[in-house]
Amino acid sequence: MKVPQNSADRTRKSKFYILAITFVAALGGLLFGYDTGVIGGSQLYFTEYFSFSATQQGWAVGSALFGCLFGAAVSGFLINKFSQKNALLLSAILFTISAWGSGVPESLNMLVIFRIIGGIGLGIASMTAPMYIAEIAPPNLRGRLVSYYQLAIVIGFFVVFVATYFIGGGNTYDLSPEEITAIHDYNVNRGWRLMFWSELIPSSLFFVLLLFVPNSPRWLMLKGRNEEAKVILHKMNDSDEVAEQEYREIERSLKEGVSVKKASPFQPKYRKVLFIGVALSILQQVTGINAILYYGAEIFSNALGYGPEDALKQQILLGLVNLVFTFVAIYSVDKWGRKPLLMTGVTGMLLGLLTVGFSLYTGQLGIVSLVGILVFIASFALSMGPVTWVLLSEIFPNKIRGMAMSIAVAAQWLFNGIVASVFPILVKSNVNETAFNGALPYFIFGFFCVITIVFVYRMIPETKNKSLEELERIWD
Ligand code: GLC
Repeated sequence: MKVPQNSADRTRKSKFYILAITFVAALGGLLFGYDTGVIGGSQLYFTEYFSFSATQQGWAVGSALFGCLFGAAVSGFLINKFSQKNALLLSAILFTISAWGSGVPESLNMLVIFRIIGGIGLGIASMTAPMYIAEIAPPNLRGRLVSYYQLAIVIGFFVVFVATYFIGGGNTYDLSPEEITAIHDYNVNRGWRLMFWSELIPSSLFFVLLLFVPNSPRWLMLKGRNEEAKVILHKMNDSDEVAEQEYREIERSLKEGVSVKKASPFQPKYRKVLFIGVALSILQQVTGINAILYYGAEIFSNALGYGPEDALKQQILLGLVNLVFTFVAIYSVDKWGRKPLLMTGVTGMLLGLLTVGFSLYTGQLGIVSLVGILVFIASFALSMGPVTWVLLSEIFPNKIRGMAMSIAVAAQWLFNGIVASVFPILVKSNVNETAFNGALPYFIFGFFCVITIVFVYRMIPETKNKSLEELERIWD
């Protein structure tokens, strides 16, 4: 093995190597945001093209989530057998098929099939990418590197909001009614297909770049391929000493207790950590982020009395706030630690939700509710968004990480689907009732924020700066 001459050189090289791998894996996050976001704009048009009923529209939009659930649930097996790298390659292929296929259909069924295929890719990538990053990251940078994954998700949302805005015709203020109709007709016939096809760019890039990344050393050692693991550990570490030490730590963690083959996340010893992972996943969803992101544009338009044609533009603002505040998390997660970020952020989310809730309740819509929504998104972006992924990728012991994370992330997709489908029903059922004026969902999300604060305070261990193997000992 070739070792660079001086240690500064070596440090730079190993850092670059890890950053490059993280960048590639994080593209999985970009596709996460892109694929969930693309539906928002495209549905405005394909619904009209196919003359879908509300139920058909719901199925076309929501079907991908079934794929996600399935993809996340099987990826534990996939990773154990074929490695994170190969699982990600498979997800890139599925994304590519789906991006192409979702743009060609002439029937609901075809559209749904291709959306489900993409959903499976998404389910696989959503858990595999952060897990892979955590396994290659040095302890003192792990929080930050996994947060890049969340950053990529948020960039994906943002890019697709901008892309659909421009594909959809961009600014239409100065145009004549005839021109607007022409753009609209174009979007109904072709624009939505382009929105799906535009995903081919990130998905094929993801596939090609993945060919160049190594397997995770922890996975290699699970499979007894210790020599290969050693080579990679040496490339990733500043000094041979640290690499050897990490090698021995992983070796020890795999030898302790039950054998790798027999280990299962359902064993009593792992029950607590599994519970924490699943509960955190569910809380990340039931505090309402995706309801706000999926329907945010509509909420905005209602609050300010805008027409629906502004929806694509409003989405961009939501995406931007989400993006900017994710940076705060990136720079503080390894310094402040996970818990303080969560406690502060979730409190902010609660305040934002109460603001929206009370402004609806008292019938004073407008700028106040808007501020409430933005405070909520900003606070999520610096806490529950990234930190959930960081914790999920690091709290599980080596032997069960794949299976346990797969269960936790499947729970996340399940509740993502539940919240996304129940939210519009709750909003509608409350609008005309004197009791809450449509504020009920926000109070429910707020209630879950309170539960999250208590849960984080009592159950979540601080994981900053500890190696994955040190963290395993917390559960012994
Ligand atoms: C997190 C959530 C995801 C959500 C995203 C929004 O990654 O897991 O469901 O869409 O944040 O920023």
